[in-house]
Amino acid sequence: MEPAPLSAIREFRPEDYETVRALWVRAGLALRPGDDLPDLLRFVERNPGLFLVAERDGEIVGTVMGADDGRRGWVYHLAVEPRLQGRGIGRRLMAEVEARLAARGVPKVNLHVAEGNERVVGFYRRLGYEPGGARMLGKYLR
Ligand SMILES: CC(C)(COP(=O)(O)OP(=O)(O)OC[C@H]1O[C@@H](n2cnc3c(N)ncnc32)[C@H](O)[C@@H]1OP(=O)(O)O)[C@@H](O)C(=O)NCCC(=O)NCCS
Repeated sequence: MEPAPLSAIREFRPEDYETVRALWVRAGLALRPGDDLPDLLRFVERNPGLFLVAERDGEIVGTVMGADDGRRGWVYHLAVEPRLQGRGIGRRLMAEVEARLAARGVPKVNLHVAEGNERVVGFYRRLGYEPGGARMLGKYLR
């Protein structure tokens, strides 16, 4: 398919929130505590310049959130507008967030793929990601 021309990859702004949240729902991301605006602003404060949106003709068509915990980089909420998937937007978002993490000195990027979302593993492998051989455990504090 033809690449989808993007106008820009830029940083998330608070006024993008409702649009971005609706995109996440359309793309099938499971929204959880941590996806409300106050939590996302806390995320941005700790990880400046790493929550990115892709724009096409003024419309937000993709997102990615990068984080730097001081040892590893992490990627969350990579999502592309369903009607524009398969046109290189996910690859471009990943390249941009990886470049920004590398510029901060991060040596390795990790990410989680939700169980049941096996389809996306092929995408990440295509981009050079390999299974980490570890299981993720988590606990909500609120
Ligand atoms: C995963 C997602 C972000 C990928 O974005 P995208 O814009 O559709 O992907 P791209 O078009 O940039 O694909 C990049 C490359 O991966 C390949 N690819 C895409 N999906 C693939 C798959 N399931 N298996 C193997 N390769 C795949 C493409 O062919 C392309 O290859 P090339 O650039 O070498 O020709 C998008 O499909 C999406 O939003 N999915 C729903 C939300 C989601 O699951 N997010 C991930 C949460 S962990």
